[in-house]
Amino acid sequence: MARINDNYRKLKAGYLFPEIGRRVAAFQKESPDAKVIKLGIGDVTCPLVPAVVEAFRAAVDEMGTSDGFRGYGPEQGHSFLIDLIREHDYASRGVSIDADELFVSDGSKCDSGNIQEIFGTDNVVALTDPVYPVYLDTNVMAGRTGEAGDDGRYAGIVYLPATAENGFAPEPPRAHADLLYLCSPNNPTGAVATKAQLERWVSWAREHDAVILFDAAYEGYISDPSLPHSIYEVEGAREVAIEFRSYSKTAGFTGTRCAFTVVPKAVQGRAANGEAVSLNALWSRRHTTKFNGVSYPVQRAAAAVYGAEGKKQTREIIRFYMENARLIRAGLGAAGIQTYGGENAPYIWLRTPGGLSSWDFFDRLLRGAHVVGTPGSGFGPSGEGYFRLSAFNSRQNVEEAIARVARVRW
Ligand code: MLT
Repeated sequence: MARINDNYRKLKAGYLFPEIGRRVAAFQKESPDAKVIKLGIGDVTCPLVPAVVEAFRAAVDEMGTSDGFRGYGPEQGHSFLIDLIREHDYASRGVSIDADELFVSDGSKCDSGNIQEIFGTDNVVALTDPVYPVYLDTNVMAGRTGEAGDDGRYAGIVYLPATAENGFAPEPPRAHADLLYLCSPNNPTGAVATKAQLERWVSWAREHDAVILFDAAYEGYISDPSLPHSIYEVEGAREVAIEFRSYSKTAGFTGTRCAFTVVPKAVQGRAANGEAVSLNALWSRRHTTKFNGVSYPVQRAAAAVYGAEGKKQTREIIRFYMENARLIRAGLGAAGIQTYGGENAPYIWLRTPGGLSSWDFFDRLLRGAHVVGTPGSGFGPSGEGYFRLSAFNSRQNVEEAIARVARVRW
């Protein structure tokens, strides 16, 4: 009989979002007439914008002609998209990224989950807590942790609590770590790292010879001009950071799938013989071995996001979601619930009223208001007592959800 990877058995229950889906399905079976409003998983609800659809359609038509047909594309991505990313996402912010430092992929979940493969299993991993569960779970699967304790913390992981008390911005640890995951704008707290905070992380990484895995999937939601969109806006970050970006939340690509990862050639790791090795070369080897590229029409659709119309139309949608976020914050505030985030991120993080646990609040919200959110404890032990609502839904549903929440007595 084949031996399994026993590390998988250390994982707690199911992945967070399927578990929520299971509970919601059970509730709907019991109460089939309840009109459930979902503000749980951060899945966009607005359709793809016209500029994207047009480019997508034109590329599909091109693929249906003898001259325009394409088979395998370059695994790293088509140069038409890579050049646009370099210009619009980086050069426009004073950051120079070479074409071979960019890897177009089918999602930041996959990239931020797979990146750990190029690192040894004896690296110490540090995580802000709460945070997107993929970072931890993929390291558990790879065997970089011991078992989880009763407090939900896995042995071997350096947890950096992000709570209201520290403004959801933990300081770099005194303890050593080799790999550090940062997410800004943060999923789930909605907090965004300032340039000064990122500078502290970069100097900590340089001092500890650590690598920062920087997830900027929500950067499109930043409206405060003083906040950095990329970690490379910080001097010295090119030597210590890998960055993940996605079209999922910025351009509604959760079902279309397109993202990219930046691995500067200057970021290095150490081989067993002490030699310094470029992480770009390792990620390139992995990417070209395990991935055959994002489909041509999807890359054309992503490229359309950078055109004048694409930019205008996607910005409009982001503005729409952020107005939802404002309404959620205002409505919860009026109902006496303390909220955080939701200003430069599509997530509203709230303190559960009446000292309820995150899952108790989930159940009360579902049963009492027929509204689905995400329990904070699902993002890490320091998320206990908090809860996340996403701004992704129609205006009507958001208004209805808030009105229902206001009627619940907690
Ligand atoms: C979330 O709700 O945290 C995200 O939608 C999950 C994801 O992007 O994979």
